[in-house]
Amino acid sequence: MAEIWHDAAAGGWLLEMRSTAYALGLADDGASVRHLHWGAPLARAALAELLAAGAGKMPPRERRLSLGRERPDEYVPWGGLRYDEPSLKAEFADGTRSVEWRVAGHRVSRSGPVCTLDVDLADTVHPLQVTLSYRVYDGFDVLDRWATVRHAGDGPPVVLRQAHSANWWLPVRASWRLRYLHGGWAAETQLVHTSLTPGKVVLESRRGTTSHQLNPWFTLDPEAAATEEQGELWSGALAWSGSWKLVFETNPGGRVHACGGVNDFDWAYHLAPGEELVLPRFAGLHTTGGFGAASREWHAWQLAHVLGRGDDRPSRAGATPAATRTAAVSADVGPPPLRPVLYNSWEATSFQVSEAGQLRLAELAAGLGIECFVMDDGWFGRRDHDRAGLGDWSVNREKFPRGLGPLIGRVNDLGMRFGLWVEPEMVNPDSDLYRAHPDWVYHFAGRTRSQRRNQLVLNLARPDVAEWMLATLDRLLTEHPIEFIKWDMNRPFSEPGWPARAGHDPERVWTDHVRSLYAVIDQLRAAHPGVDFESCSGGGGRVDLGILRRVEQVWPSDNTDAWDRVKIQEGFTQVYPAQVMTAWVTDSPNFLTGRELPLSFRFHVAMAGALGVGGDLPRWTDAELAEAAELIAVYKDIRPVIQRGRLYRLASVLDGPFAASEYVAGDDVVVLGWWGPQPAGVRPDRIRLAGLEAGARYRDIDSGRQHHGSALMAEGLALPGESASSFGSALVRLARLGRD
Ligand code: DGJ
Repeated sequence: MAEIWHDAAAGGWLLEMRSTAYALGLADDGASVRHLHWGAPLARAALAELLAAGAGKMPPRERRLSLGRERPDEYVPWGGLRYDEPSLKAEFADGTRSVEWRVAGHRVSRSGPVCTLDVDLADTVHPLQVTLSYRVYDGFDVLDRWATVRHAGDGPPVVLRQAHSANWWLPVRASWRLRYLHGGWAAETQLVHTSLTPGKVVLESRRGTTSHQLNPWFTLDPEAAATEEQGELWSGALAWSGSWKLVFETNPGGRVHACGGVNDFDWAYHLAPGEELVLPRFAGLHTTGGFGAASREWHAWQLAHVLGRGDDRPSRAGATPAATRTAAVSADVGPPPLRPVLYNSWEATSFQVSEAGQLRLAELAAGLGIECFVMDDGWFGRRDHDRAGLGDWSVNREKFPRGLGPLIGRVNDLGMRFGLWVEPEMVNPDSDLYRAHPDWVYHFAGRTRSQRRNQLVLNLARPDVAEWMLATLDRLLTEHPIEFIKWDMNRPFSEPGWPARAGHDPERVWTDHVRSLYAVIDQLRAAHPGVDFESCSGGGGRVDLGILRRVEQVWPSDNTDAWDRVKIQEGFTQVYPAQVMTAWVTDSPNFLTGRELPLSFRFHVAMAGALGVGGDLPRWTDAELAEAAELIAVYKDIRPVIQRGRLYRLASVLDGPFAASEYVAGDDVVVLGWWGPQPAGVRPDRIRLAGLEAGARYRDIDSGRQHHGSALMAEGLALPGESASSFGSALVRLARLGRD
């Protein structure tokens, strides 16, 4: 049971999670809230001692000597003798550009399995307030945090120039390793690491969206000592789908300050009287169980408290709308439904969609056991290629003379749900929408409107654009029994201007766009509760905990080469669960890399996530179709284990051309192994399993052979398949039997 304990006498709070504690307390005579501890469980009696050490109550001489030493404030206002990365930089009408505050109060509340601490700070002179929120969850070691900035007066606006979500202060250690995910189009979520040396490391997106290049997640482990199986580490993940920034500052004393939130680059926000800005959540966790335990904790917490949940934070005026389809924070609604096996038409038909062509695909897909048929790009406007039609969201009558009705009807008759691709934030200059509203895109007067993939970004910060988008999509979903939307976003922002707003708070478009995007999706989800959403951004450009509150799954990459995908998926699942990771089996040779891979290999890789098929099925042989149907049936059997189980990465593709993952849920165990181009013999003879019950026996579902849990974990399992071949794969299903 998570608890938040308040030591009123000493002025501190202890946040007790499953096996982690976090402590903070008043300092500088109530002028600051100081960080005291994040890590191993802490005795309540120890809080007073930490408070005394961290309270800033020093005699004047010592205080002078301590100048320049870092002060681990929970929220760092810019002003005074502060030179580290600030949390908040504000500007007032009288020219004051610093913040000084006092702690004004606090509240602890419980709602079902969730406990929240709110600490209120108020500027000593100006009507600016900040509430720091901390949320802990029964049974988890995740601490979710955010800040809410509020204009509490009726005077002129307060201009925010930086407003982060949270600070994370790590304990003093000799050295630190930072791991994070970088990449690019077709090569997302590549896991890398670097040592932190004194100075600053900045990870960020300035692209208006989460980005392919960097993902807002990290781990920090001292002395590079953590392994997959063990070791202490701290991890953080930001819930924001726009431009973001994470900063890691290391001081010579070995203390790391990690902080972040909305990117302050080119950003400002004029907070109007009475308005409040609820900043993105920034979750963190601590574990002693290594990288594997950290991933399992992230996954389980997202399944229980994030996926499709909407924004379950209280909101006042100006905040993003509260949860929509989702329940209040207290509701214990169980894990989200399992993801259907879907078919997607993109690699098969590209823009050349037609009723007959899609029907042919749908019939073959249904024969494989596919559960949701998704028609991708090309069905609307004059969308025969990527140079026209974006923005014109009415059915192309040349391709679908009878509209979408007959296709959807047939897909439903075949026993599948129907899904559709949209890219609502974009417009081709060659479109009726752009011809009617050239001012609806981001631009600077007289400057180039830079195009990428022949498209421009709609200014979703504009209320009329948001209204148009909501009405357009609402009509589409009302007029057609669509049950799945793939929401794409194929280019980053450029020229983020709104000339009509010149001089009136123009830089807030960076945050307003994302808030408006969230609001549109939230409203659609509320109005159409049967529709599932998939986030896509030219592949994995919009994968983060913010969008995952509003979608059921995400498309990790346009690279569907299964061998490349092993690495992408290993990075992806460091933080995001298999359940949300859409993975299609596509054609061989792969359209992008030209690599030829066996069908079973392609399936075994895609089965590590939410399985889908994206191949040109009419070109598959009968034998291939039969094999695919068999593998899909197997996937449906193991789906709960893959999508909801605990993931153990048994071997990493970063260490060589062999990788294996194990999934455990209740009595069921699934092992997937993949080996790539190799000199013969690179695949290990046996692979040691993890997370089993040592005293139990396990039966191999396919071979009938029995193994002892202790032997599987100590000596390993021999994988079936030809170890000397390049690009081989194996799938093993085990069921726990009784104990000996
Ligand atoms: C990019 C996506 O990642 C692809 O899957 C596909 O939907 C195309 N856009 C369509 O234009």
